[in-house]
Amino acid sequence: MKAVRLYEYGGPENLKYEDNVPEPALSDDSVLVETSATSVNPIDWKVRSGARQKDFPLKLPAILGRDVSGVVRAVGRNIRTFKPGDRVLALSWEAYAELVAVEGSMLTHLPDGLNLVDSAAIPLIALTGDQLVRQAARAQRGQTLLVTGAVGSVGRAAVHTAKKLGVNVIAGVRARQLSEARTLGVSDTVAIDDDSAIAGLAMVDGVADTVGGETAAKLFGRVKNGGNFGYASVFPDEMSKLNPTVTVTRVLARPDASKVREFADDVRDGKFLLPISRRMPLRNAGEAHALAQRGGLGKIVLVCR
Ligand SMILES: NC(=O)c1ccc[n+]([C@@H]2O[C@H](COP(=O)([O-])OP(=O)(O)OC[C@H]3O[C@@H](n4cnc5c(N)ncnc54)[C@H](OP(=O)(O)O)[C@@H]3O)[C@@H](O)[C@H]2O)c1
Repeated sequence: MKAVRLYEYGGPENLKYEDNVPEPALSDDSVLVETSATSVNPIDWKVRSGARQKDFPLKLPAILGRDVSGVVRAVGRNIRTFKPGDRVLALSWEAYAELVAVEGSMLTHLPDGLNLVDSAAIPLIALTGDQLVRQAARAQRGQTLLVTGAVGSVGRAAVHTAKKLGVNVIAGVRARQLSEARTLGVSDTVAIDDDSAIAGLAMVDGVADTVGGETAAKLFGRVKNGGNFGYASVFPDEMSKLNPTVTVTRVLARPDASKVREFADDVRDGKFLLPISRRMPLRNAGEAHALAQRGGLGKIVLVCR
């Protein structure tokens, strides 16, 4: 099959598009999916570069990619809910390939009317945003939650879940993204690249952080005593000592097929908007990584067929 493989940690040029990659094996509990599209997530380029070798060690050559949308080619002996020809969507592994073997429990049917290619943008960011708000920031109805990187992909998903929960959302974004952030239907917006705006921010019950680093450190002080600081990226450990009453929790997205389906339904119904900035052929995965890594672009979908 055709696939993009990484032979060596390093730059985007290390991603090689190849013709004769062995097809994945189909186990009794898995489904073989003919990939329509996958998407580029920041974790893909962080893993490729070697920066995340500790958490995500690879056996090289490796196929990257977490999201898959496509059509079922074959099913394992224990699979009852899917059949060849079904349109499906999943959080998976080794998705930069024409064929992906996905555990049946991680797969969901694609709602009618949803575009097969663009839906590949949904799984990882939806699960991360949702779990960030519910399980890491532990947001409750009526509380105020600051979502950082709110016009980014995980940020949008976090805002969506928080609004569904009845939480008052403050969208934290770059100053130049403020007008875009207002289109999210949030209670308020704040420029988190502006120290005076951060200083003027009222104390919040929780933060759902997708930006990390220095920005996260600055925002930690805006959480009320007893509040929650959930993060998806990087949080400086020493910061939490400044207020031990605030619970700091990292989210690591776990598969949840029914949640992926819920987001897919919301995309189809126009309730959740996830802009796609580029649709590029899988063979251009290296170029897509270089673009994504530069930032400021948004979601890139890699089209496989
Ligand atoms: N833990 C997990 O399971 C998990 C899963 C998925 C993602 N993640 C992590 O979550 C983070 C977000 O992922 P994503 O897919 O949402 O990426 P994304 O679509 O690129 O969104 C990131 C957003 O944050 C903004 N941003 C970046 N640096 C900023 C700063 N210093 N101040 C203000 N805004 C800033 C970006 O703006 P610009 O585009 O203008 O830079 C963009 O709007 C990444 O670090 C990713 O690795 C973690």
